[in-house]
Amino acid sequence: MAKIKIDGKELQVPDGITILEAATIAGIEIPHFCYHKELSIRGSCRMCLVEVEKMPKLVPACSTTIKDEMNIFTSSERVIKNRRGVLEFFLINHPLDCPICDQAGECTLQDYVYKYGSAVSRFTEEKEHFERRKELGPHVLHYSERCVLCGRCIRFCEEISETRELARFNRSVRSEVDVFPGKRLDNKLSGNVVDLCPVGAMVSKEFLFKSRVWWLTHTESICPLCSRGCNIEIDSRDNKILRVRPRPNPEVNSQWMCDDGRFGWDFVHREDRLTSPLKREGAEMVSISWTQAINLVKGRLSYIISNFGKEAVAAIASPYLTNEDNYLLRVLLLSVIRSPSMAVYQAAQVEEPMVFPSGFTIEADKSPNLAGAQDVSAVEGREPISHRQLLQKVASGEVRALYFLGGAPRISLPVDEREILKKVDFLVVHDYAPSELTEWAELVLPNLSFAEREGTFTNFQGRVQRIRPALLPPGEAKPDWEILQEICQAMGGEVNYPSAEKVFEGIAGAVPGYKGLSYSELGNQGKAKG
Ligand code: SF4
Ligand code: SF4
Ligand code: FES
Repeated sequence: MAKIKIDGKELQVPDGITILEAATIAGIEIPHFCYHKELSIRGSCRMCLVEVEKMPKLVPACSTTIKDEMNIFTSSERVIKNRRGVLEFFLINHPLDCPICDQAGECTLQDYVYKYGSAVSRFTEEKEHFERRKELGPHVLHYSERCVLCGRCIRFCEEISETRELARFNRSVRSEVDVFPGKRLDNKLSGNVVDLCPVGAMVSKEFLFKSRVWWLTHTESICPLCSRGCNIEIDSRDNKILRVRPRPNPEVNSQWMCDDGRFGWDFVHREDRLTSPLKREGAEMVSISWTQAINLVKGRLSYIISNFGKEAVAAIASPYLTNEDNYLLRVLLLSVIRSPSMAVYQAAQVEEPMVFPSGFTIEADKSPNLAGAQDVSAVEGREPISHRQLLQKVASGEVRALYFLGGAPRISLPVDEREILKKVDFLVVHDYAPSELTEWAELVLPNLSFAEREGTFTNFQGRVQRIRPALLPPGEAKPDWEILQEICQAMGGEVNYPSAEKVFEGIAGAVPGYKGLSYSELGNQGKAKG
């Protein structure tokens, strides 16, 4: 440990860290552009210069390692003068177009100029101009005139994605970031350069001019598009998702997310979202009330149980739904109906995992909760069966009623599975929109997308993480656990959970590995199950 002083404050900090890191520990802000925790240090922007006793010149806080007895000043007259000068340089050719810049409100340059800059510009000459806006790739636009040449975007493509599309071209005031000739910024992590850019130079094509950022509501959640479970923030307005960005979680996704997750949430706003229970009448699906739907399930299941036995009822849990939803399916099947036939749907993996040299991985399993669905539907001492084995029981006529939880953003069933589903006497499906599952169902119950529900997913590492509702549900759609609880109650089951949180308490009490976990314990970063 080293003993240092920053702005008169005595501190003991670990050896080998930089002045910038030590100041962060002490809660002292040192403004910076080119430094980023997850990237190599360049020390090029000069915004972070500080004064150190016995050193003749100002030193970059981002690249100067602390020494025992160092006495550092982050707000001396020389430091303040340097900051003002650096900011003045950055603004010389800046178009000052904050009123139409997507970054306004989240812009480091804007914030620093407000805090440390000068209110008046001394520059009266003509500014240098660049091509106003360039499309660098399918998701990223570049406004060169706003760039402070911090190089974060370039280093990201060198060090994290290792795709090396970007570089700095030309010299002096003509310097600009661009893609190499003939290349496009088209890698699976490209959207991260938008988050990394401290100014409005790299912007998202999808979010361009969609909203001022201060009008957005931020909701912490988990990406539902693969089993990694990247921590995300859903930014919404008027009950619509406008943007999804990663939240840092060193155990799961560092600071990043892939473009599939960042831009792949459009299914939430499908025009054909299901808004009420639907019952098959011939070739038609007709809308019915929830009371009629629950009575229909109760009547049909009771008939099948009394004529063919409880084993004739089976259920398939969903790796796309939460632990809470799947747990209530288990309660219905194993505790209320007392049938042993429960499996978890597992889609065939069509892709290999995509592993980036930095370690970030897009998983091959495109469901967010396979591990959790398996955990909550497992029965001690009983060998789990696959959904394909269970479908064979349907094909053989052993199973007459099938309760199938859907919820996949996109699902494509193999032909043989589709053929089997046609044969079930009574097929109930929960889904958020018409799918290959709902096609043959006698009853379709409308559930919620990940963006409308509360609950937990367990990722491929066994980390249990919370998702939270960012949007209101469409029409009469409900969370699956609530629908299943109503069916349990209609069939004589004694369950009465008032919330998803209470269902999770039930899971913590019943499922090995979840003991001791609670929503407050999981917090916003999740916890590894035991
Ligand atoms: S585009 Fe943004 S991240 Fe890239 S060098 Fe310019 S300011 Fe930095
Ligand atoms: S890696 Fe997986 S969890 Fe992460 S953003 Fe991409 S699809 Fe979502
Ligand atoms: S942050 Fe230190 S020189 Fe840029």
